[in-house]
Amino acid sequence: MARVFVTRTIPGRALEMLREAGHDPDVWPGELPPGDALPVRLEGAAAALTMVVDRIEPAVLAANRGLRIVANMAVGYDNIDPRAAAELGVWVTNTPGVLAETTADHAFALLMAAARHVALSDRDTRAGGWRTWSPTGFLGRDIHGATLGIVGLGEIGTAMARRATGFGMKLLHASRTSKPAAEHALGIERVTLAELLARCDFVSLHTPLTAETRGLIGAAELAAMKPTAILVNTARGQVVDQDALIAALRANRIGGAALDVTDPEPLPLDSPLFSFANVVITPHIASASHATRARMAEMAAANIIAVLAGREPPNPVNRPTPPRA
Ligand code: NAP
Ligand code: GLV
Repeated sequence: MARVFVTRTIPGRALEMLREAGHDPDVWPGELPPGDALPVRLEGAAAALTMVVDRIEPAVLAANRGLRIVANMAVGYDNIDPRAAAELGVWVTNTPGVLAETTADHAFALLMAAARHVALSDRDTRAGGWRTWSPTGFLGRDIHGATLGIVGLGEIGTAMARRATGFGMKLLHASRTSKPAAEHALGIERVTLAELLARCDFVSLHTPLTAETRGLIGAAELAAMKPTAILVNTARGQVVDQDALIAALRANRIGGAALDVTDPEPLPLDSPLFSFANVVITPHIASASHATRARMAEMAAANIIAVLAGREPPNPVNRPTPPRA
């Protein structure tokens, strides 16, 4: 019976799937991640089912020679170095394909919330601020007919673009390579990042966090945006230089921001970001629907079951040579 360390309580049938395959899921009971306890809990485990907040250092993989796979319950895998894991013989897997629509739903919800002051006016209403119909209260930005720029036209970026077509938005994207099928089907124009920033009313980030995208949106990029434009980030907090974002908001250089991801997470309550009326913040929940989180957990379990049966996992992000047996 192989022990599988699961770093949090997970939804769906994932634990049953592991048990049915003859494994022993050992679930961290805390509401918060195991953190410093993680290396100890991994001792003797054959697999780890991890979350984006569980940083897995190569030294931990080296110290736990029995560990054969780290199955991230996320599409992003910037919490682990897949190349270092491969060198140590450990598979790393992710959960592509099942969360793009749900994540795009949330990105679009954030865009709308920021454009139309949904969260701000709700807070004001609860506080007794609704005294009359006001011709000048909570004036926002039109979404229909506006121009949306997608930085990173991958699975989620494309799902975001599909939603925008329903609102009659014009679409631009900036990615390293062209995407002829999506560009043609959705009428998206590929431009440079500089052109996208200058032309768009909404800029939505959908790249992975890599060495190249860390700080991709800094002071110069924020200065290049329209002063009315809204930045939406459901990618990773570190894709944006957060100090530069705070400075741009203070100076009214952009129209607002809608953030599901921040740097760090959770965002400390004394962060200046909380002081801006034109900023909407959600706690990294873009993929958080019942159905999608269950599918993500089950996909991570399926990757573990495959590797522990000596097969290649369905969703590898690295290729250990040779894999640990
Ligand atoms: P994906 O399908 O791999 O798409 C990523 C896109 O980013 C690709 O089309 C890629 O195109 C582009 N890209 C990569 N580097 C770039 C760069 N330097 N400049 C511009 N574009 C670049 O990934 P996905 O499934 O859409 O997910 C994207 C990210 O969203 C994940 O990695 C994760 O960090 C984040 N995410 C967050 C949540 C949440 O809960 N907030 C949920 C799911 C995912 P090129 O290679 O042509 O550049
Ligand atoms: C969540 O952030 C993911 O990468 O799936």
